[in-house]
This record gives sequence, C-alpha cells and structure tokens, in this order.
Amino acid sequence: MAVRSLGYWGFEVSDRSAWQQLLVDQMGLMRAENGSDGAYVYRIDRYQSRLRVYEGAADDIAFIGWEVSGPAELEAMAQALQQGGYNVQPGDAALAKARCAEGVIVVDDPDGVRTEIFWGPEIAARAFVSSLVPSGFVGAPNGAGHHVLLVRDREKTLAFYRDILGLKLSDYIRSEDPDRPQLLVTFMHANPRHHSLAFAEIPFQPKRKMQHFALQVASMSDVGLAYDRILAAGTPVAMTLGHHPNCDSFSFYGRTPSGLDFEFSWGTHEIDDATWVPKTYPQLSDWGHKVELDLIEPA
Ligand code: FE2
Repeated sequence: MAVRSLGYWGFEVSDRSAWQQLLVDQMGLMRAENGSDGAYVYRIDRYQSRLRVYEGAADDIAFIGWEVSGPAELEAMAQALQQGGYNVQPGDAALAKARCAEGVIVVDDPDGVRTEIFWGPEIAARAFVSSLVPSGFVGAPNGAGHHVLLVRDREKTLAFYRDILGLKLSDYIRSEDPDRPQLLVTFMHANPRHHSLAFAEIPFQPKRKMQHFALQVASMSDVGLAYDRILAAGTPVAMTLGHHPNCDSFSFYGRTPSGLDFEFSWGTHEIDDATWVPKTYPQLSDWGHKVELDLIEPA
C-alpha cells in the first residue's frame, strides 16, 4: 500500500493577487475556475486542481494532497494510519468536491502538516495550454512536482512517509558547504519522479513548514525564459540557476510573496526501483545555485 503520486498543494497566503501574478504571469500556470471552498485554483497539466491558494495569515503550506489508486486503497491507507496511531479523519462529500476528488481522508503529519489522501482526481474539460511554458509542465502520471519540508524529528517523519504512506528512499545530501545551511536532506519517491518529497531536520522551530515547492518543465529553455520573467518582474531570486547532483535537475529558486520559495526545474532523471541504489551526495548543488537570500527562517 502506497501513495501513487503527489496530487496537490494548498497554500494559505496573505496576498493572493501577488501569488496570482507570480503563478500565472511569471511561472506560466493556468488559472482554473475557483474551488467550491473559495480557493484560487491553478493547473499544470490535465488535472483540474494542482495548486490551490487561500487568503489567510499563515503564509505557508496549508495542506498537501497525495493520490492513491482507488477507494479500496484509500480505505487501506486509513486503516494503516489508524494502526500506526495517527488520528485520521474521513473527509466528507463537500471536502472531496472542493478538492476535485472522489474521496479523501485527512491526517496530520508529524510536524502538523495537514495531509490529505485522495482518489479519483477530476480531469479538466480543456487541455492544458500555456503560452509562457510551451514545453509544458511535467505532471501526471508522476504528480505535481515536489516539495521540501522542514521537520523536527527525522525518524518520526520517516515513520509517517516511508512506513505508512509508502514512499521510498531516493538518496541523501549531506550539505557541509559553508555558504549553505548545513543539513542532511532525505529525498523520497512515490513513482519514477526522482523525488516527490524531501525533508531536512532542523534544530529550531522554523517560521514555515515548507521550504520550497517545485515544478518541472519539459525543456531547458523554459527554465531560462521563466528566469528572465522573474528577473524582469523584480521577484526575489533565492538561488540562481544551478544543478543538483543527485537528481540531475537544472533549476533556479525564487521567493513567493509569502516568503517560502519555489523551484523551477528541468531534466530531473527518473528512478527504476529494480536497479536504483540510494546514495549520499556531499553538496546540494555541484554548480550554480548561488544563495541570494536566507533559505530557512526561524520562527
Ligand atoms: Fe527542490
């Protein structure tokens, strides 16, 4: 029993119109019709709902949706969570409708990140089209992208995401670069996408639970074009163009109006579990990714 992919994110933000400009005018996402829960809803592929933005004070991730194959798998996941001692709640029809899914359950991860597990994603009536990202985003079947969570207890995080949700270890980066936060970052996959989740234990309470979320595009030029748009718009760059040694991603990082970062990437290689061997890398980036802003803020 395992989740198949990262389905959607929900963000609570204090400036939705600034997020709208970033997501649509700079990053090239497609705005969908508003959710029945009042969300501004954005698409990256044929799924009706990948990124949902709500007005609020948190300026952080509000919930994360993970997809399972069907109702039997959702029930099995609910049982596994209960047996693991997690307080899992069934989502009602209104919540499922709001999230553009057939069924959903809700549980907090060990750091209190609201985690929604769902089946039956709604497919949009119209094709995904973005004039700003002509190659398109890399989405279904391997999910929306990935994110990095800041956690207080690595073992508890593994017990939830590995032992219950069923993600597998991709690799580690043990960063001791003096110019970057010194971290052990654990990368995990749910499908061939190199990582849908990464997390780092930090020794203090962070201001935000999510460090960044990432979208992947299908051409290198679409990363460069997005970088030019970000610079032209005056959006803060958190890390310049660069390359990750473990997943082979070429990317840059910008700062959202909420203070958490987004990564815009290309080239991420895929994992074949039959031959994959988890490894440990000594640096987050082997070139580029010059750090321009503090990457982790304490509470
Ligand atoms: Fe990333």
